[in-house]
Amino acid sequence: MAGLLDGKVAIITGAGGGLGEAYAKLFAKEGAKVVVNDLGGSRDGSGSGTSAASEKVVAEIKAAGGEAVANGDDVSTVQGGENILKTALDNYGRVDILVCNAGILRDKTFANTSEEDWDKVIKVHLKGTYCTALPVWKWMKDNGGGSMVLTSSTSGLYGNFGQTNYGAAKAGIYGMVRVMSIEGRKYNIRVMGLAPGAYTRMTSDLPGRQGKEPDPMSLPENVAPGVLFMVSDLAADHSGKILGVSSRGVREIKMLQTNGFNPGRPYTAQEVAEHASEVFFPKAEERTAASA
Ligand SMILES: NC(=O)c1ccc[n+]([C@@H]2O[C@H](COP(=O)([O-])OP(=O)(O)OC[C@H]3O[C@@H](n4cnc5c(N)ncnc54)[C@H](O)[C@@H]3O)[C@@H](O)[C@H]2O)c1
Repeated sequence: MAGLLDGKVAIITGAGGGLGEAYAKLFAKEGAKVVVNDLGGSRDGSGSGTSAASEKVVAEIKAAGGEAVANGDDVSTVQGGENILKTALDNYGRVDILVCNAGILRDKTFANTSEEDWDKVIKVHLKGTYCTALPVWKWMKDNGGGSMVLTSSTSGLYGNFGQTNYGAAKAGIYGMVRVMSIEGRKYNIRVMGLAPGAYTRMTSDLPGRQGKEPDPMSLPENVAPGVLFMVSDLAADHSGKILGVSSRGVREIKMLQTNGFNPGRPYTAQEVAEHASEVFFPKAEERTAASA
């Protein structure tokens, strides 16, 4: 049976475990040749520097009849990004799909966020997306285009306690998706944003999850088909969109704009405050009526 990614070459960063591993296995099953990148290391980015995790995933893909190659470079350096592309070109001669997925966590309240924790999280997620996407972008631009999925998060799009560094990086990635999707039109490069939700080592200690068996619905394998859709030709008409993909299904996450205040003349802070009160805080009786 024909696969959705037959003949395509895909790079997936951070694919030695968690969500990236599930994407790599599904993409390979759907006919893609996959570059499985992972630097190894622990959840906070310490102890990294081994390609063992990606090699294990490659061995499993091959055992299942698929094609894949391991890469152990660091996404957060320019050289690492260039090496990842080189692995694809040296082994398969091209690249059609990039999923920027690698990531770490260093959660703290804002008051307790050290400069090191700030820099490291921004470097792996935000700069890492830049370092990995740029060489691939340049190659795709000169070779007929391709598709990219950049991984954001509801933590950056909606906000989440204890994640200013991570939320800032993920909201920055949202900005990259929007800008790159506009610039990519000219070169046939599609860029989609992803806000995944799954039980992985990154989320296994969220409140309510500790010590419990994961709900099968929350496993990364349940997110992978949504990502497969995004990179495949099924989504050929879509770019610049952010999809939330989790056990709750697939939904588009959009920026919302309420009715604005623009009287077309200089205005006072008091007028803005009155407008904002009407829009954001309807009067008590209206709230009661709306929730009845
Ligand atoms: N799991 C969720 O619910 C969830 C929610 C929102 C966003 N995300 C995002 O999805 C992505 C995957 O997360 P996950 O839950 O599978 O976590 P995970 O920790 O299982 O996977 C992340 C992988 O990235 C690798 N990595 C870290 N730094 C790297 C580097 N510098 N270079 C190359 N590889 C590196 C790690 O070794 C690890 O295998 C991350 O970007 C994460 O922020 C996950």
